[in-house]
Amino acid sequence: MTVLVTGGAGYIGAHVVRLLQSTGRDVLVVDDLSTGSADRIGGAPLVQLDLADPSSVDPLTEACRESGVTSVIHLAARKRVDESVTRPLWYVTQNVGGLANVLRATQAAQVGTFLFSSSAAVYGSCGGAPVSEDDATRPVNPYGRSKLAGEMLLRDVVRSSALRAVSLRYFNIAGAGWPELGDTGVTNLVTQTLDRLTRGALPEVYGTDYATPDGSCVRDYLHVVDLAQAHLAVLDRLEAGHLPRDVYNVGTGRGASVLEVMALLGQVTGLDAVPDAAPRRAGDPASVVAAVDRIRDDVGWEARYGMPELLASAWAAWGAGRPQA
Ligand SMILES: NC(=O)c1ccc[n+]([C@@H]2O[C@H](COP(=O)([O-])OP(=O)(O)OC[C@H]3O[C@@H](n4cnc5c(N)ncnc54)[C@H](O)[C@@H]3O)[C@@H](O)[C@H]2O)c1
Repeated sequence: MTVLVTGGAGYIGAHVVRLLQSTGRDVLVVDDLSTGSADRIGGAPLVQLDLADPSSVDPLTEACRESGVTSVIHLAARKRVDESVTRPLWYVTQNVGGLANVLRATQAAQVGTFLFSSSAAVYGSCGGAPVSEDDATRPVNPYGRSKLAGEMLLRDVVRSSALRAVSLRYFNIAGAGWPELGDTGVTNLVTQTLDRLTRGALPEVYGTDYATPDGSCVRDYLHVVDLAQAHLAVLDRLEAGHLPRDVYNVGTGRGASVLEVMALLGQVTGLDAVPDAAPRRAGDPASVVAAVDRIRDDVGWEARYGMPELLASAWAAWGAGRPQA
């Protein structure tokens, strides 16, 4: 009954690994340690493999058989939108090719259940209303397209086999459950703002003339521990039988604006966080907030943490001595 967590040494994966361990589950981590770190996995066995390389399929199959893997949580992927724009072929190899290799090994080792890390990036530009799983998917960058292609591949594999699988579309993930598991990347608003504040620079707000209550962009920020809990809840349901749907949003259903996040970070850190106004960035939708009734009704999961706890935990992790990515 071992759970394989690919990308388990990364930011989100390490939280999933720790929660699985806390429930007594056996965990196997597979990671190439390109952005992850082996000291984040709580002593779980680690197999170091580049999953995008087709030669990883055989050793991964062997590792699954040896460890008795019955479920997979596949998080290993590249996640930088800007990089995906300059290296689209590499993103397909990494995110779609990597998933295909993991699925090959999963089939060979007769694994029964599979969770795939997808993203709200599959929706592209949304209107102002909370976005539901039934809304159109029109990703606006290669990263989002790689996640949508992954969802489609997974659906095809499910149709042709006995695998039970779900794609989880994460919204904006931030915070830390434990200071040593904080996000080492500077790729989202929270860590970017903390980075600037602690370097003595003012944060920048890109666009203050959007059709939102304060003119800045609105996003749905989910505490990483809530996200990890969602994985455990979905896995429980999937291991017990089928879930009625194969795609779930994972968010809070509430939006926070860039200006609100910066003001709260100013309070939490005690630093001057009054932002400089900068022009809009191309491709930034005004508002992206999750509709969360599907995961609540089918899985019984809801976010527990709000913005104050999320930002305080991100700051505690930052202050704990942020390892360099
Ligand atoms: N962080 C977010 O806000 C967010 C939002 C939506 C979706 N996601 C998805 O969640 C997943 C995890 O993201 P994260 O924020 O923890 O990122 P991360 O970079 O911290 O973790 C990714 C992990 O996967 C490993 N990895 C990457 N490519 C690999 C490969 N080819 N072979 C083996 N290991 C590989 C890395 O070493 C790292 O440990 C990704 O699939 C990402 O696309 C993240």
